[in-house]
Amino acid sequence: MQPVTKILTDIVSSAFGRCGYDPKLGVVAASDRLDLCQFQCNGAFAGAKLYKKAPIMIAENVAAVLREEGIFSSAEAVAPGFLNLTLNDEYMLKVAKDIEGDRFLGIPQSEKPQTIVIDYGGPNVAKPLHIGHLRSAVIGESLKRLAKACGNTVYGDVHLGDWGLQIGLVIAELNERYPDWECFKESFNPDTDSVPTLNAELLCEVYPFASKKSKENEEFKAKAHTATFELQSGRAGYIALWKEILRTSVADLKSNYQRLDVDFDYWYGESDADKYIPELMKILEDKGLSYESNGALVVDVAEESDKAPMPPVIVRKSDNSSIYATTDLATIIQREKDFAPDKIWYVVDKRQELHFTQVFRCARRAKLVPAETELEFLGFGTMNGSDGKPYKTRDGGVMRLSDLIETVTNASLERLTSSSFVDEDDREDYARKLGMAALKFGDLINHRSKDYIFDLDKFMSAEGKTGIYLLYTVSRINSIMKKAGDFKAELNGIYTDAERELVLKIIMTGNAFSYALDEKAPNYICENAYQLAVSFSRFYHENNIMNEQDEKKKSSWLALAKLTRAIIVKHLDILGISTVENM
Ligand code: ARG
Repeated sequence: MQPVTKILTDIVSSAFGRCGYDPKLGVVAASDRLDLCQFQCNGAFAGAKLYKKAPIMIAENVAAVLREEGIFSSAEAVAPGFLNLTLNDEYMLKVAKDIEGDRFLGIPQSEKPQTIVIDYGGPNVAKPLHIGHLRSAVIGESLKRLAKACGNTVYGDVHLGDWGLQIGLVIAELNERYPDWECFKESFNPDTDSVPTLNAELLCEVYPFASKKSKENEEFKAKAHTATFELQSGRAGYIALWKEILRTSVADLKSNYQRLDVDFDYWYGESDADKYIPELMKILEDKGLSYESNGALVVDVAEESDKAPMPPVIVRKSDNSSIYATTDLATIIQREKDFAPDKIWYVVDKRQELHFTQVFRCARRAKLVPAETELEFLGFGTMNGSDGKPYKTRDGGVMRLSDLIETVTNASLERLTSSSFVDEDDREDYARKLGMAALKFGDLINHRSKDYIFDLDKFMSAEGKTGIYLLYTVSRINSIMKKAGDFKAELNGIYTDAERELVLKIIMTGNAFSYALDEKAPNYICENAYQLAVSFSRFYHENNIMNEQDEKKKSSWLALAKLTRAIIVKHLDILGISTVENM
């Protein structure tokens, strides 16, 4: 189904055409003055210039034709030339029924489905997930679900940081602690020698330790760099150890992402791009783009219009090792070969914007992707504590993602202990779902580019723009449906104002989806879900569904409640939020 404004645009365009005006003038938008009308069209103003006629005359011509359509309760020309439109109940109901019967529940499907790669998550092997990774995972997952729901082919790639200095640091530190391990021998033979089994706790302890040490100890730092370089050059013992580090770390990461209900189609890492580096270097050289500067190989990416200095991008360091930009460029080659995507979106901390500007410009100059392929950096802001600084643990350390999940789950558990609705057995599962709903909605309701404050009490509140309020709305509808039993539910009319308002929100939902996808911003899905819930709540308070004696009304109201639930659940699903039966 098309979004309702698109359906109306077609109708109004044809009316402009029938009056002898350019149909392109008939663009319809949602009204920002619901007290005056539901929709509006301002085409008469542009028409006035084209046809040297007063805008109000054009608007009046078109309004007269539109009134014949039989779908508006009012189609009015308003001075100086606005066209104000309000649908009649029959037509609103028809659209609501179309949505009810649509297998996509009214979510507009892309006319030209696109292939989109979303690079999100971006965890680093051997380093624990911290809350910065939460945002990438939560926003990226939601964008993936949104783009899929709109009919696109979407691949989520975790783009594991598995090839950089952090591995060298871990290898160097393990070498100091366990010099006898076979993997540290020059003569390591992968067929006969072995690597000890590692565990996630060890890695979580070793990395920060080694990282700190490298800042204080030059000699150790040099060792870590050498280890990184030797690993990247294929030293057998290091490769074997790296594989074990990878195995341990990925298992741990997968279990963390599972708790977040975030899942990736591909678990490629930076290391997978390694084999494309020679090709990348050749392209850069053949096209005359790369040149030596202070021993490193660089590519100019500055453009005339730049307001701030734009440094060249380094593609190979003086010690011959490849760096972050090299991997990202090689990964673009890999993605082009594997998926030939129309778009690649990067959901990464906004502080990495300069890096991506450099990478994209270099990729364009080297023509690594066709000119029409969209490469877009979707930067996100920071999750802060109440002091406005990046959220920390009580002792001032970096908050681990797993600790944060535990914090919200425990807070939910505390609240549920007093709930008579939830069975003892379901409590853990409910607590996890409530916690996730609170956390994800609290994050996604903010435009991704903004910083926000993690406020547990606010996130857990059953009122206002929270995930809990939405779960509560769904559970309320569940209990209405349960009480109604097998009472026949069928949309058959619009009987009250609150109901009309809710139906309008329902038929406007397609617009919210299109807008959210165009803007690549899930906060519009959050906002729309909230608006639906508020309208439902008003409808529910003003119309006593269960005690209604008129069976026809009751039937229509039940159907409306059911449709509202389906649509809210769809929104939540796109946000990566699971619902609970009752609470
Ligand atoms: N691993 C990186 C980090 O933690 C994020 C990776 C983002 N994606 C990318 N293609 N560079 O900062």
